[in-house]
Amino acid sequence: MGLLVGKVAVVTGAGRGIGRGEAIELALQGAAVVVNELDAEAGAAVVQEIQAAGGAAVLHSGDCSEESGARSLIGLALETFGRVDALVNNAGILRDRTVVKMSPEEWDAVIKVHLRGHFLPTQVVCAHWKEAGQSGHIVCTASTSGLLGNFGQANYGAAKAGIAAFSAIVAQEMWRYGVTCNAIAPAARTRMTEGAYGEIFNPASEDFDFWHPDNVAPMVAFLCSDASSHISGKTFGVQGDTVELYQPFTSFSVIENGGSRWDPEQLAGQVDELFAGFPIEPGATNGMARLRFTMTDRS
Ligand SMILES: NC(=O)c1ccc[n+]([C@@H]2O[C@H](COP(=O)([O-])OP(=O)(O)OC[C@H]3O[C@@H](n4cnc5c(N)ncnc54)[C@H](O)[C@@H]3O)[C@@H](O)[C@H]2O)c1
Repeated sequence: MGLLVGKVAVVTGAGRGIGRGEAIELALQGAAVVVNELDAEAGAAVVQEIQAAGGAAVLHSGDCSEESGARSLIGLALETFGRVDALVNNAGILRDRTVVKMSPEEWDAVIKVHLRGHFLPTQVVCAHWKEAGQSGHIVCTASTSGLLGNFGQANYGAAKAGIAAFSAIVAQEMWRYGVTCNAIAPAARTRMTEGAYGEIFNPASEDFDFWHPDNVAPMVAFLCSDASSHISGKTFGVQGDTVELYQPFTSFSVIENGGSRWDPEQLAGQVDELFAGFPIEPGATNGMARLRFTMTDRS
């Protein structure tokens, strides 16, 4: 028996990489799965793999960041399987470039797939759950590139930080309806990361491939299940055999001006007090240096 017996789950961008592993794990846990994928051939292969293993799956070949795609995606789950219990927003792309060199098209493409691609299926499924009086679970896909900030990824990082905020806000709005919404910041060896980082270092252990994309799926299956109903609005780092809990932006220190408005010259003299004695540099730093697990040099 799995965690998702009798449930129906939708995964966007499930034709390869992390989404493929998620769709297969959700099916192994007993869910019927709608495999959304822009690349129909890749999506169909995942559907076949699930069916060959005795699971139930259907292909939705379309763009989850278009209104018609998002509507038909959730509609297909309802038509085919009669219900929908979980949505995994996973589809994503990269168009890496430093901000000075980035074209508006590269900015828009990334913002659209990630932010609209999260917003539209979430809106459709939440409206359905609210109307049906049904509970449900949403998993969004953020990234450490957004949570910590990665050089050369202003578009992607802005979208991924936005997704973490989106997820926390959807969680607040839908909590009263019994709907949870959490985000993961995964890390794995996929077409996306090999394109960005080149060859990814494999750990020395022969028993466990730390960066295998399927390692992300168990936490996602848990977050799609009623076993996680008490957890919402949180962001988890997920890679290898590790799960991390992230804390969102938090006020770290404060200066006050005794009940009157600051003068800019006063601030020039006092803002450095905010940093005094704390491990936060005033200048720009490499946020990714705070990663616990580094894809290119983990041993
Ligand atoms: N791989 C990592 O280490 C890593 C790290 C942080 C975040 N992520 C995120 O995880 C998610 C999955 O990434 P991956 O590494 O598996 O990438 P991937 O490129 O292997 O897979 C992404 C899939 O999404 C599909 N897709 C893209 N746009 C789509 C759209 N509009 N509608 C439907 N499908 C679409 C692609 O065709 C592809 O099959 C992405 O959101 C990515 O940003 C990945």
